[in-house]
Amino acid sequence: MELEQFGALRTAEGLAALDAAARVAGGDPLAAAAALRSAGVPGGLAAAALTQAELRRRATRKFGPAAAGMFFTRAGLEQATRQVVADRRARRLRAAGVSTLADLGCGLGADALAAARTGIRVYAVEADPLTAALAEANAQAAGLADLVTVECGDATAFDVAGVEAVFCDPARRRAGTGRRIFDPNSYSPSWDFVTGLAERVPRTVVKVAPGIDHALIPPGAEAEWVSVDGDLVEAALWCGELAELPRRATLLKERHPAAHQLTGTGAREAVVGPVRRFVYDPDPAVVRAHLVAELAADLDATLADPTIAYLYADAAQPTPYARCLEVTDVLPFSLKRLRALLRERRVGRVEILKRGSALEPERLRRDLRLTGDQPASLVLTRVAAAPTVLVCRPAA
Ligand SMILES: C[S@@+](CC[C@H](N)C(=O)[O-])C[C@H]1O[C@@H](n2cnc3c(N)ncnc32)[C@H](O)[C@@H]1O
Repeated sequence: MELEQFGALRTAEGLAALDAAARVAGGDPLAAAAALRSAGVPGGLAAAALTQAELRRRATRKFGPAAAGMFFTRAGLEQATRQVVADRRARRLRAAGVSTLADLGCGLGADALAAARTGIRVYAVEADPLTAALAEANAQAAGLADLVTVECGDATAFDVAGVEAVFCDPARRRAGTGRRIFDPNSYSPSWDFVTGLAERVPRTVVKVAPGIDHALIPPGAEAEWVSVDGDLVEAALWCGELAELPRRATLLKERHPAAHQLTGTGAREAVVGPVRRFVYDPDPAVVRAHLVAELAADLDATLADPTIAYLYADAAQPTPYARCLEVTDVLPFSLKRLRALLRERRVGRVEILKRGSALEPERLRRDLRLTGDQPASLVLTRVAAAPTVLVCRPAA
């Protein structure tokens, strides 16, 4: 979408086209285009409205019903923080006493809007003119225009002296191709700028990729990994006065406001022992935050391999931080033996979990040629360096 098309979408004719597009979106695209044409919507406007309606539909996953009044670009939506994550971050900033915030590289404004919803005054800066215009429109649609100022410009030139806190979510995709950037030195704004911010503003938060190398975490910063419904979605560095402890894993649910948080140093090591009756598969936020040893201590559990994050215990304890399965069989990995065992147990459906195994689950599933009617969970892993499969069932 170009700025000009966005302008057209905001006219009375454009809004009517958006309404019409919303009614036909999600079905056959050719039929949808024909429906808009027969309603007299000009071709260019119809295409822009249909794209917007489709993006709004997809955006519901991140923004719920509010998506229906927001404006998106494909790249902006992909990079936008989910509302449940942005809201929680914003509440933490507010609880820390922040009342003015600069959002440097605000994208479509998901984080800026969340901060404004808590009452924080937000100065948002965005380099891309269309994205900045969309952020402004999104603030208006949310009724938050009084609390959010969007400036189109270079975030690195923004004077941070006038705000109490800074948030930066650098672009981690290449403009144009949309390909993911894994090297923080290629982020925009640059990693040097982002880490330099923490030195200039005592309350700085930086959103980073969940795969960030722990060695890049600035000394003294709190690194937090966030999962939503078991999917790892992001990491954030809380710097200066905002850092409360070294590492935090925050587990959120899309449809539930309460968060579970496990904290620690990230440097503890769990005890290694044998495979025991129950195996725990920790949430990816716990694993990435290097908090498996803390979880092991809570669960009275041990590892079976010092480098693999499955935990083993004699008792099953309810925990939000891991899924628990009961181990019924432990086999050194052999396709033949596993197939024979599953046949004997009449297993026809398997879910396959793996850590520390090079096996491809889908290929294994095919090779097992299961015929029974019973379910089972297979955990592919290593025990004392040996490839091992655990046959499991849900813990009672
Ligand atoms: C990951 S997105 C931000 C997403 C946002 N937090 C949200 O949830 O909607 C990063 C944004 O930073 C912008 N950006 C990159 N470098 C910038 C710079 N030097 N100045 C201002 N904006 C910049 C990009 O155009 C992109 O829209």
